[in-house]
Amino acid sequence: MKKITIWTLLCLLPVAGWAQKKGKKKAEPIMPMKEYVDALMSQMTLQEKIGQLNLQVAGDIVTGGAMNTDVGAKIAAGQMGGVFNLKGADKIRELQDIAVKQSRLGIPLIIGMDVIHGYETIFPIPLALSCSWDEQAVETAARIAAKEATADGINWTFSPMVDICVDARWGRTAESNGEDPYLGGLMGAAMVRGYEGISRGSDGTEVRGSENMLSCVKHYALYGAAEAGRDYNTVDMSRLRMFNQYFPPYKACAEAGAGSFMTSFNIVDGIPATANSWLINNVLRRQWGYDGLVVTDYGSIGEMLVHGVGGDLQGASAMALKAGTDMDMCAQGFLYTLEKSYNEGRITMEEIDDACRRVLEAKYKLGLFHDPYRYCDAKRRARDIFTAENRKAARDIAAETFVLLKNESPTSSPERGEKLLPLSPSGKIALIGPLANDRANLAGTWCVAYTPDRYLTLKEAMERRLAKSSMGDAAPRLLYAQGCNICHDEADQQAGEFGKNIPRVDGEQAKQEALRIAREADVIVCAMGETADMSGEAASRSRLEMPDAQRELMEELVRLGKPIVLLHFSGRATVLTWEQEHVDAILNVWFGGSETAEAICDVLFGEKSPSGRLTVTMPQSTGQVPLYYNHLNTGRPVAEGADKFFKYASNYLDVRNDALYPFGYGLSYTTFAYSDVRLSQSEMGVNGSLKATVTVSNTGNRDADEVVQLYIRDLQASISRPVKELKGFRRIHLKAGESREVTFSITRQQLFFYDGNGEEVLEPGDFDVMIGPNSRDVKAARFTLK
Ligand code: NOJ
Repeated sequence: MKKITIWTLLCLLPVAGWAQKKGKKKAEPIMPMKEYVDALMSQMTLQEKIGQLNLQVAGDIVTGGAMNTDVGAKIAAGQMGGVFNLKGADKIRELQDIAVKQSRLGIPLIIGMDVIHGYETIFPIPLALSCSWDEQAVETAARIAAKEATADGINWTFSPMVDICVDARWGRTAESNGEDPYLGGLMGAAMVRGYEGISRGSDGTEVRGSENMLSCVKHYALYGAAEAGRDYNTVDMSRLRMFNQYFPPYKACAEAGAGSFMTSFNIVDGIPATANSWLINNVLRRQWGYDGLVVTDYGSIGEMLVHGVGGDLQGASAMALKAGTDMDMCAQGFLYTLEKSYNEGRITMEEIDDACRRVLEAKYKLGLFHDPYRYCDAKRRARDIFTAENRKAARDIAAETFVLLKNESPTSSPERGEKLLPLSPSGKIALIGPLANDRANLAGTWCVAYTPDRYLTLKEAMERRLAKSSMGDAAPRLLYAQGCNICHDEADQQAGEFGKNIPRVDGEQAKQEALRIAREADVIVCAMGETADMSGEAASRSRLEMPDAQRELMEELVRLGKPIVLLHFSGRATVLTWEQEHVDAILNVWFGGSETAEAICDVLFGEKSPSGRLTVTMPQSTGQVPLYYNHLNTGRPVAEGADKFFKYASNYLDVRNDALYPFGYGLSYTTFAYSDVRLSQSEMGVNGSLKATVTVSNTGNRDADEVVQLYIRDLQASISRPVKELKGFRRIHLKAGESREVTFSITRQQLFFYDGNGEEVLEPGDFDVMIGPNSRDVKAARFTLK
């Protein structure tokens, strides 16, 4: 076929696609996207269109050798729309060169990667980020991740993951924003804004800078509802629940302008999401008006056959395309079967064109038609990656994500009356636990480009901090012992490590060493919990308590009767019932990214007050899950806080219904008091609004942040509605002794629900407005919607 590159093609077009404004980084589109893509597609053969729908991993490409790989050959043949999992501006330039100079039309590639919580500067895991309740900080984290990733050649991230998660057994909770649809939507949208940085060109067209990338909202849909919390498992739910509880975050991200969506592995209404036309064509595209790219998850089209749907790869591929899926990640079903399906009349040219158009539009939005090498500037690495500024942002936000679950005056010296945290800077500290001197795990589960050699361990950070103390010889001294393995069983430990290994030790010897230093110390700090990869993909757990070896060591340490702080690492809600009873202070630090160790010191020694609040409910026992605050009331509820079993009511014989720590919960180094809720009026019209106000006072002696939370309950509706739903929040800073009024405006936006078709319904009746520091300890007022 005649070789015609996109550059010769563009000469035939009326005007070039993009123009670079002098001295500015942003390329301005001067030819509208639709016309540009139309003109390009009019030159494309069927095979070239299908080639654009193929996405594969780049494999082990070494600089100078790309052309000799299967991927290189496919790119040259026009059989590849994009690749993923390759980093390095030079290597990516080489692939882009093949696409631009050797394929017939020279269409550039889109380059993907799972940039989930940072690139080389690693931010806290998404679950932790959500616990900051700080959209601005989350947006900043995504912006910095995009800046670093694009400096290394990548222009498409498979993030944010906005699957609602109410079952802590599911390991991917770590990548989620927790259990709340409203908060999940806000956080997801903040990430989309941070990655994409969309602004408008002079003609109103979307423009992204070369430091921005396309986001990918995943996993559409309902992936977090896997039965029994087992990854990749079956999902089955009512449409009411889909629209009200699980869909809102995806919708919020679509509205925020997300460049792409990824389908999920699971079935929805019996049909794999990847080939579910109702889900993609009807809900996402028609109902929500989303016109961006939809890509499958890894090999999902192939997995349809394992689900038992589609018959063979050709059937599954045709079904996926018809359902509205545009790009096939790794199954190569589109590449090898769509032409046949077209010739047999099983799919139409219109369907192929729609998919191809969306892939090309994604590339257009990234400015790749203007400059295919836009993201291949090798000089940026030194300038933009792992900079002091980026690391400072990561450290600051990490400290905002830690949740103080308990802080009492030590049982050993209650007369002091002082809370154990922040640690007072004197005496000897025994730092104990398998996570205390580890470099890799603190970063968290999904950090493909991380460079752990450059990250501090907690032990190192604490040593540095104490060495800097102005107290000279009176400064506290640090003693350290690993003390135990993650768990007794070596195979179990390895299953949760995935390369971030923690050395195995002789359990008895390690315990004796830990007890020896603990006896010598004034306070014990335990760094314990999960390893990073005990959460994340394919990391479900059936028991959510502290792994056995660590719990046993803690029991021995508690017997010493010394003050104990638990720095608890986890990628999910865990069960800390024993720890709540026996340990004086618990700071849940999740996995805080590359700057975790310094951030922990900032909070532990009191430079910052903890301000994270849970975005997942923490149960008292694993048997309670799925446990979430925004549940329905049932016909036989048990009152919140009830402390005994009630026959013929909805409760358990052996554990109370309440959470150990409720959604929204988190302590501070100061205390806050809330006034009663004041409503501006007791009645409101359906198109009206009212104001709900509380006065919040900092009643302690430290300046600190508080997260004021608004919940609403619809008491009389045509369907059963949750006992509480988060509808607003404010993160405020109050000086010691300061009081402030916080007012929320209530309109139909906070009051409607979705029916089973996804239509908004607003019904007159009574509503409770609840405001407080968490979902449990609220004050309420009632109004009537007329
Ligand atoms: C499978 C995961 O489910 C998805 O989240 C990820 O983006 C892809 N693999 C690509 O790595």
